[in-house]
Amino acid sequence: MLLQQYRDHLPWRAEGVVELGSGDASAIADVVRTVPELRVHGYDISPASVDRARQNIAERGVGDRYTVELGDFFDQADSAAGPRPSTAISNPPYIPAPSRDILMPELWGGEFGNDLTLQLLKAGHRHVIVALPSYADPVTTLATARDAGYRVVNFLAMGLDFGQYSSEPVVRRQIERICAEGRGWAGPDEYMVAVALLTQDPDVPGDREPQLMRALQLHG
Ligand SMILES: C[S@@+](CC[C@H](N)C(=O)[O-])C[C@H]1O[C@@H](n2cnc3c(N)ncnc32)[C@H](O)[C@@H]1O
Repeated sequence: MLLQQYRDHLPWRAEGVVELGSGDASAIADVVRTVPELRVHGYDISPASVDRARQNIAERGVGDRYTVELGDFFDQADSAAGPRPSTAISNPPYIPAPSRDILMPELWGGEFGNDLTLQLLKAGHRHVIVALPSYADPVTTLATARDAGYRVVNFLAMGLDFGQYSSEPVVRRQIERICAEGRGWAGPDEYMVAVALLTQDPDVPGDREPQLMRALQLHG
């Protein structure tokens, strides 16, 4: 896991991390359980997700180090008391579609699927660990990250089959458009997702944008 691999370079043990879009919290709750020094403060706009998240966190016994609040990450992070942690993590909503009128509106990532990620890159976090799907215009996301002074330190990538939400016809048409425009990649039944560590800190070693582009099947 990237947080552990870069534990000596990122200040998360002292500051904790903030999370955009905790969902049911099960994935990160398992990480928190196995990393005793990790504290996560998450936000989600879905009341049902926050209820499930709190249950999952309680079941795993990590409620003292993982909290999830109902609300928009960007509003809440601005109004939170004290300094904002410099590390943000997110598996953000990334379903691309012309409008929010899709099966699961809270997973809508804007027209190209990367609206929330682009907003996260402007939210003032020095280190960002974020899921980048190959079909959600990673070309623009990485160019925006570069312009904002971020560098790709490292990443973990894997292939995923299209699921229920990415298979919805209006979404598939949008994915085809994004790929045809050279802004992303998807196979007939699959796409790639990379969880990437981006940093603005010159002291964190690593510069792997070309490798990340190849892992996302983008060769431009
Ligand atoms: C793709 S899910 C990720 C869930 C979980 N982190 C996981 O990896 O399984 C994205 C989540 O972001 C939430 N979300 C969408 N926009 C948000 C916002 N502005 N602030 C906080 N949460 C948001 C959605 O409700 C959804 O639960």
